[in-house]
Amino acid sequence: MLKTRIAVLVSGGGTNLQALIDAQRSGKLVSGEIVAVISSSPGAYALERARQAGIAAETADRKTLTPAAFEERIEELLEKHGAELIILAGFMSILSKDFVSRWDRRIINVHPSLIPSFCGPGMYGLRPHEAALERGVKVTGATVHFVNEIPDGGEIIMQKAVNVEEGDDPRTLQKRVMEQAEWVILPMAAEKTAAEMAEKKG
Ligand code: GAR
Repeated sequence: MLKTRIAVLVSGGGTNLQALIDAQRSGKLVSGEIVAVISSSPGAYALERARQAGIAAETADRKTLTPAAFEERIEELLEKHGAELIILAGFMSILSKDFVSRWDRRIINVHPSLIPSFCGPGMYGLRPHEAALERGVKVTGATVHFVNEIPDGGEIIMQKAVNVEEGDDPRTLQKRVMEQAEWVILPMAAEKTAAEMAEKKG
């Protein structure tokens, strides 16, 4: 069966990208192949991770492009690499309704909370963890979902719960959620989605 061609969109450190690269190496991600990494920032360490893995490292610079030109550049790069599935792995921009509707059920995102808690506009990076601690929840986690026109509102593919512990601050909680949930379920959801898409292609 032909592998699903995956583009991973990133903005920062790229530890979730690394989890996908490691899954590809260890044979946990077999139905898809990462063909390009596209960063919204030229300095993102995620680009270095891509290069080290021999994957095309591309930039669509959000700071120097208008919102329309930014998305055009992303589309151009997706086409250049023949991408079929987009994985948002720490991608800190919200894609427009038009963009998302062109890629219906072909974009997945990892979010650092149990949706529908602590999600939506403004809830990214450390903020969901700050909000979880402020609310005093005892369990949080991560979610992988399809992306639709509602921020963090698309169909849920996978979730994993993580305990909040006494004395946690946003960074200790973020680290635990990444290690115990994000890096586990993102590769699993990527494999599941890539396999379903590969099957459809025949
Ligand atoms: C991750 O925790 C990811 O879930 C979160 O940003 C971090 C990126 O880390 N994404 C969002 O908040 C998107 N709404 P990484 O660059 O090391 O993968």
